[in-house]
Amino acid sequence: MTTSSRADHAPKPVPKPAPRPAPVPPTSPQENRVPDTAWFTHDRFGMFVHWGLYSLAARHEWVKNREKLTDEQYQVYFDHFDPDRYDPLQWARTAKAAGMRYVVLTTKHHDGFCLWDSRLTEYKVTRTPHGRDLVGPFVDACRAEGLKVGFYHSLIDWHHPSFPVDGTHPQRDDEEFKAAAADRDIRDYQRHLHGQVRELLTGYGRIDYLFFDFSYAGRAWWGGKGADDWDAPRLMAMVRELQPHILVNDRAGLPGDFVTPEQYQPSAPMTVDGRPVLWEACQTLNGSWGYDRDNLDHKSPDLLIRMLVDGVSKGGNLLLNVGPNGRGELDPRDTAALAEIGRWTGLHERSVRGCGPSPFTPPADCRYTQRGDRLYVHLFAWPLRHLHLPGLEGRVRYAQLLNDASEIVQVPPATGPAMNTQMGGQPPGTLTLQLPVRRPDTPVPVIELHLN
Ligand code: GLC
Repeated sequence: MTTSSRADHAPKPVPKPAPRPAPVPPTSPQENRVPDTAWFTHDRFGMFVHWGLYSLAARHEWVKNREKLTDEQYQVYFDHFDPDRYDPLQWARTAKAAGMRYVVLTTKHHDGFCLWDSRLTEYKVTRTPHGRDLVGPFVDACRAEGLKVGFYHSLIDWHHPSFPVDGTHPQRDDEEFKAAAADRDIRDYQRHLHGQVRELLTGYGRIDYLFFDFSYAGRAWWGGKGADDWDAPRLMAMVRELQPHILVNDRAGLPGDFVTPEQYQPSAPMTVDGRPVLWEACQTLNGSWGYDRDNLDHKSPDLLIRMLVDGVSKGGNLLLNVGPNGRGELDPRDTAALAEIGRWTGLHERSVRGCGPSPFTPPADCRYTQRGDRLYVHLFAWPLRHLHLPGLEGRVRYAQLLNDASEIVQVPPATGPAMNTQMGGQPPGTLTLQLPVRRPDTPVPVIELHLN
């Protein structure tokens, strides 16, 4: 068996992963307001961290809503919040080793509890037994590891005394509570919200990414709130003025820099009103964002890697969540999955980093990603001996398995009667690769094709 391209590949330079985009210099509000999205589409993979008082309840971050807990009942977690094993450098290193390049921390979740020393509330970490700011050390740790810094911030607030009771509020069925809350003025809450976002975006230097949570265009389905309730135009304007380069999602109810499909994989590159948009799927490891001790619904590393690849093949990012426990430590089940993902990304980084969709159409059970003249075939199932790639005949000068750089032989195109007997009558223009019978021992094998 010969390859169609053995002769012409020898002197070609060895490709390296696409260079990281040059860091964007700090900008002043007067300068360029168009945020630079290059790092986001290059990096492709980030870590989401859901951490707060609910981590002590250890049964989902919506526990206050689900169990309709009052402030008094929920107070027990505040009184016992003392994450003595908090080590953000460890988080950052875990993220980096998994192949993630940015980390997004819940500064405040729906329960209203703040992980920083906000001047605008007493409902914050510095009033708990822990008594120290958590956000600063997080930001420093990310920077020390060369990771981009992201903040999640909940627009919803189940603790603030001016937040009107809506369909998500823990006291939504408590008539007495609702009667007493009838005159709550959301404009008071808006001032608080805007003030807190200002604190976060002025207190910690450059912040690369902001995830507001949440309202959607059609808000009626959950009887909740939307852009008007947050005074979203002013809020977004302030964000862009304070951090002109920041990337913001669309969950304040206004278009942002990217959209955030939650716990599903889109079936194609995403569009809004017919126009392509940047997108990032946020996904959990086990269905819960906050630490959920008894939840055993963990996705396998193999599935998680396929989700990452599937997203990149459709032009999207993956923001994969961990829920540290009440002592501040990552769950060993999570770190084991991340380590496994890291073993894969270590070998296959260049098939996702800096890559995006390919104009070619992959065969069944495969995903294509592409960066320049490199086309990456991700095999979600291992075929028997031959892999047929429509439209690629004569377009590939070299093919190799990415995990060990072992050559993959191209079967010369068959002609005449041999066409039917040898290769089952593939359509003209199909490239056939001859694979080893044994699948490489890696969750998702990748073939790197060097295109002509
Ligand atoms: C949802 C949930 C929330 C989680 C978020 C992550 O909107 O309310 O608990 O933080 O999604 O995307």
